[in-house]
Amino acid sequence: MASVEPPAPAAPDGANAGAEPSVRLRRAALLEALDGLRASPDLPALRAALVALSAAAGPGGELRAGEDEEAVVFPEGWLRSELAQIGAALTLERARYYAERLGRAARGARTAAINEIDLNRWKAYEDIVTDSLWLIERRDSSGVHRADYWGNFVPQIPNQLMRRYTRRGEWVLDPFAGAGTTLIEGQRLGRHVLGVELQPDLVERARRLVSAEPNPFGVALPVVQGDSTAVDFCALLAGHGAASAQLAILHPPYHDIIRFSDDPRDLSNAASLDMFLALLGRVVDGVAAALDRGRYLALVIGDKYARSEWVPLGFLAMQVVQGRGFALKSIVVKDIHGTAGKRAQQELWRYRALVGGFYVFRHEYVFVFRKR
Ligand SMILES: C[S@@+](CC[C@H](N)C(=O)[O-])C[C@H]1O[C@@H](n2cnc3c(N)ncnc32)[C@H](O)[C@@H]1O
Repeated sequence: MASVEPPAPAAPDGANAGAEPSVRLRRAALLEALDGLRASPDLPALRAALVALSAAAGPGGELRAGEDEEAVVFPEGWLRSELAQIGAALTLERARYYAERLGRAARGARTAAINEIDLNRWKAYEDIVTDSLWLIERRDSSGVHRADYWGNFVPQIPNQLMRRYTRRGEWVLDPFAGAGTTLIEGQRLGRHVLGVELQPDLVERARRLVSAEPNPFGVALPVVQGDSTAVDFCALLAGHGAASAQLAILHPPYHDIIRFSDDPRDLSNAASLDMFLALLGRVVDGVAAALDRGRYLALVIGDKYARSEWVPLGFLAMQVVQGRGFALKSIVVKDIHGTAGKRAQQELWRYRALVGGFYVFRHEYVFVFRKR
């Protein structure tokens, strides 16, 4: 369980908070208006009531709340689409159902135990991806996020995972912390993150980047220099007053396609594919021991090409996790874009692909598991 209570959220986590104009409505008056609308004897009467309610919710309308009034706050576009859906219903029963749904959203949040997504307003979370194909057009380069560490993932990956599988104040483990992308996102989202990274200079870099941004929720973001195949994650968490973690995000080397260091403990230096998978298994064991049951582990990894053959590294690594008490929940395929600096290389790969009868990698995987 988490040890540090963060400040109460100002808005539902990730529900486009701050991204678009919002509307403050008097909660009790809105519920009363919705009750009246649902009591309409037929569809024309309900639509007439809806016109009145929409006007009252508009600028200067009587449903708008003053500063001191008990209010419910909705994203403006979301409210408009909810009202439009009621108006577009073809049957009285359906229109009443949509009105009831809006009423539930007005009454308060309904969240799952593992995140803060308000299910009464699920349509407001347009930017939370629920499809298994992730086409991320542009890397988030806001604040201290940088693309110059070859091998870091786009910040959108840990952002999506943490908002989907954690609540504020919970702990996330990142045993391959690299330059600290998950830590930076955790700090912004109010999740504690424990990062472990083998290379001392990267540890320093991650700490520097994290401390260059504000910590609005006062979360802990320790980065430990160490070998994730051998560290005791439970003990590391205990050092910060936490008994366990609620999410793990693993972004290991994709075996030897990038050599990250000369350190023999580095997974990218594993002498063989079997050795790589065995070392990954050790990391999963260590992480699993510190993860709460029923909570999630995400593995971000791609395939590789060796001796003129496609090696399904992603699926082999997936089986390593599956064999350790985890249920597979999703296989996400994420696109990989080349950067400007790699474009010449891309041309070369295209030529090689044509000659060699294979396809150039344009995807990697995010495997999502739940601990049994
Ligand atoms: C793919 S990168 C992770 C990048 C990270 N997600 C980011 O966005 O910066 C893999 C990282 O794992 C580290 N690593 C490799 N073997 C390790 C081990 N045994 N223990 C801890 N870290 C290790 C490498 O140094 C490298 O930084």
